[in-house]
Amino acid sequence: MGKVTVIGAGNVGATCANVIAMRGIASELVLIDIKEGFSEGKILDMYQASALYNGGTKTLGVTNDYSKTADSDVVVITSGMPRKPGMSREELIGVNAGIVKSVMQSALKYSPNAIFLIVANPMDPMTYLALKSSGLPKNRVIGMGGALDSSRFKCYLAKALDGFIGDVDGMVIGGHGDTTMIPLVSKASYKGVPVSQFLSKEVLDKVAADTMVGGATLTGLLGTSAWYAPGAASASVVEAILCDQKRVIPSCVYLEGEYGQKDICIGVPTVIGKNGAEKVVEIELTAEEKEKFEASAAAVRKTSAILHDLKVL
Ligand code: LAC
Repeated sequence: MGKVTVIGAGNVGATCANVIAMRGIASELVLIDIKEGFSEGKILDMYQASALYNGGTKTLGVTNDYSKTADSDVVVITSGMPRKPGMSREELIGVNAGIVKSVMQSALKYSPNAIFLIVANPMDPMTYLALKSSGLPKNRVIGMGGALDSSRFKCYLAKALDGFIGDVDGMVIGGHGDTTMIPLVSKASYKGVPVSQFLSKEVLDKVAADTMVGGATLTGLLGTSAWYAPGAASASVVEAILCDQKRVIPSCVYLEGEYGQKDICIGVPTVIGKNGAEKVVEIELTAEEKEKFEASAAAVRKTSAILHDLKVL
């Protein structure tokens, strides 16, 4: 148990906060936003709801008052603009970079020992920005993308298998972008059995393609970015940290030679526990997956380089 701050009370931030409250994993939860009264309203609604499930998390909603976030163990940054239909995550960099950098500084001032979870898009460059601009050790800055993309992968696998989603396992690595993420089809399983024993190559190709545009599909349907899965995925990483679960969660972390990459934040299987990103797990990739990972890293690098043009780094 510990104190969690969620920055940004929009759809993703509020959903993340609500899942944390419902799961009872934090002793204290603060939701902060710049919009007057917004966090206060969301938290009051959540607290009223908690009476119906016997929840007891101590919650607080505040407008821009970072002193109330003091001594947080985990800080989740969801602030910034969501996607509009037809927009890529990468296009948000100009608007969101300045926001992420400034909220990170404000939060760090009051919670110098916190672990930061970056959710704002484009998530991989935002994680790199948060790490480099703060000077924090690499274990304390984690980007959330792989947890979400993997849950979408499992969703499409379960649909194709017509099976229970909890019986499906699968992992997505690489960048958190429509063209940069890599669903690891070769490692996906149904009750521990490779999915290739149940599904044809054509079906598996379709599952991978649907996974990659999982977020864009929802943006098209909803008119804005999704929130239930992004919020729940963020909360699951917070839980792994607060409860020291040592779960292997594909997460965006800083690489120093792992998977043949250096000086980049990108999604790889990572042990998440009380110290944040505790260890990168190096798994054997097929030749095709390796090639895709290299292309993904090149694309993430290209977007991250914009941070210098924007003069935020
Ligand atoms: C998504 C956004 C939140 O994938 O990145 O839905």
